[in-house]
Amino acid sequence: MEVINDSIYNHPRYYDLIFGADCAAETRFICDVNQKYLNNRATRLFEPACGTGRLMYNLAKRGLEVEGIDLNHKAIEFSNQRSKRHDLPQTAFVANMVEFQAKRKWDLAFNTVNSFRHLTDKPSALSHLRCMAKQTKRGGIYLIGFHLTPETEEPTDWESWSARRGNLSVITKMWTINRSRRKRLETFGMHFDVYTPTRQFRISDELKMRSYTQHQFASLVEETNCWDIAGTYDFTYDIKQPITVDSSSEDVVYILKKRQN
Ligand SMILES: C[S@@+](CC[C@H](N)C(=O)[O-])C[C@H]1O[C@@H](n2cnc3c(N)ncnc32)[C@H](O)[C@@H]1O
Repeated sequence: MEVINDSIYNHPRYYDLIFGADCAAETRFICDVNQKYLNNRATRLFEPACGTGRLMYNLAKRGLEVEGIDLNHKAIEFSNQRSKRHDLPQTAFVANMVEFQAKRKWDLAFNTVNSFRHLTDKPSALSHLRCMAKQTKRGGIYLIGFHLTPETEEPTDWESWSARRGNLSVITKMWTINRSRRKRLETFGMHFDVYTPTRQFRISDELKMRSYTQHQFASLVEETNCWDIAGTYDFTYDIKQPITVDSSSEDVVYILKKRQN
């Protein structure tokens, strides 16, 4: 099979298909968080590292105002083109989530599927959380979903799933190449095997992510002096089933609430 060594984020059509699987559950969960933590008052939402805007699109269809930013201009273009096709406002912009200025403040922000861990050093992660707080309205919420490093069990070290739309099908695999607990850096291999009626090829990539144990994340949040952890869930995205994070927890969705100071 032909192999293309490139960032998976440079291929928004395939990314959007393969990461679309959980979209309905994630969208519903974001709305449930709005209801439970904000009495449904959030009409303006924000997504840092929005990628192809798959969640922004689904929320905009529900009548919510959502702005997003991402480093990758191809993903941003894909997101805005989809909005345009569906007569929705084009609200995705190229920017770095470490430090940025959004158009307006929001009540609720969300950042799922490990994007936060793309900030591979502490100053970037701290700067991001503080920058988010500055632009969140009083009492607002920031939902962050990612994989923690469990301390009492071996972390899951590979995942594979597939998706199909019409004649296009994509199979993906993600696996750990290297894990340095000391440097708190993990390197993952990820490929998309793409099948169309006329062509089959593999997009092959390596991703670097910062690792967090439950204590490392809690202490980072504390250090921001801007946020408190108001709730914790897992990737089943069930608002009725909050979880208690412990040393074996792996997939966690944190609900951060902006401090009133
Ligand atoms: C796993 S994807 C998630 C995309 C989207 N949030 C979703 O749920 O499908 C991670 C995204 O983070 C973006 N990204 C990585 N580092 C970034 C940074 N410093 N600032 C903004 N976006 C970044 C990548 O370009 C990519 O689109």
